Amino acid sequence: MLCWGMVLVIGHRGAAAHAPENTLASFRKALELGADMIELDVHLSSDGELVVIHDDTLDRTTDGFGPVSSMTLSDLRELDAGGGERVPMLREVLELIGGQCGVDIELKGEGTAGPVASMLRRSVDEGPFAPGSLLVTSFNPIELMEFAPLCPEVRIGILVEGVPEGVVEVGGHLAVRTIGLDHRFMTEEVVRECIRAGFEVHAWTVNDMERARMLIGWGVGAIITDRPELKWDLSGGERGG
Ligand code: G3P
Ligand code: CA
Repeated sequence: MLCWGMVLVIGHRGAAAHAPENTLASFRKALELGADMIELDVHLSSDGELVVIHDDTLDRTTDGFGPVSSMTLSDLRELDAGGGERVPMLREVLELIGGQCGVDIELKGEGTAGPVASMLRRSVDEGPFAPGSLLVTSFNPIELMEFAPLCPEVRIGILVEGVPEGVVEVGGHLAVRTIGLDHRFMTEEVVRECIRAGFEVHAWTVNDMERARMLIGWGVGAIITDRPELKWDLSGGERGG
């Protein structure tokens, strides 16, 4: 069971070191490796379907090209997202995870807050996700402000690029639970300042165990990693449920 307050290991784009990012294969691998939560990125197709893909465009991760938002769902489903995997819909990813671990949904695309809130409303009201097992994050404060009143039981988190100047003020203004920082720009002082102000700090993207240990020593609450198996190294190799 997900327990806020313990250090969480969050599978970045599933288990991106082991399978094509943000695909069902990657999410299955993250589950197999025992991730506490799975992180994924959402955009809208041109016909308003929530799809799981990182970039605004198709070029880097699929055999298609151009903006994701210019393609219908059925066009997107024709593409190869790596190793014969398809671009998944958010609905099918949530069905796959099915409450086995938590989910950190990053609102990447413009206009995703409302549709994600509707989908999570149903998942919380009808199951299988407890609200505490879900987190909605974004670099875009506008999406977070839109999401929060629509689904107030689900926690939100702000993501910050680069040097986290003024992050505590921004987090306070948005009433977020978590602050997600690029670990390369983190200092112990910043982490402690965020914690003192009442936030949980999530570090991305940490694939090195020694670095993860250092960050946890500073008080970081979650390690977002392409290698969810770090969890077992961090817990002394004890594989548990
Ligand atoms: O969860 C934070 C992390 O995913 C943000 O960076 O570029 O991988 O979406 P990015
Ligand atoms: Ca992300």
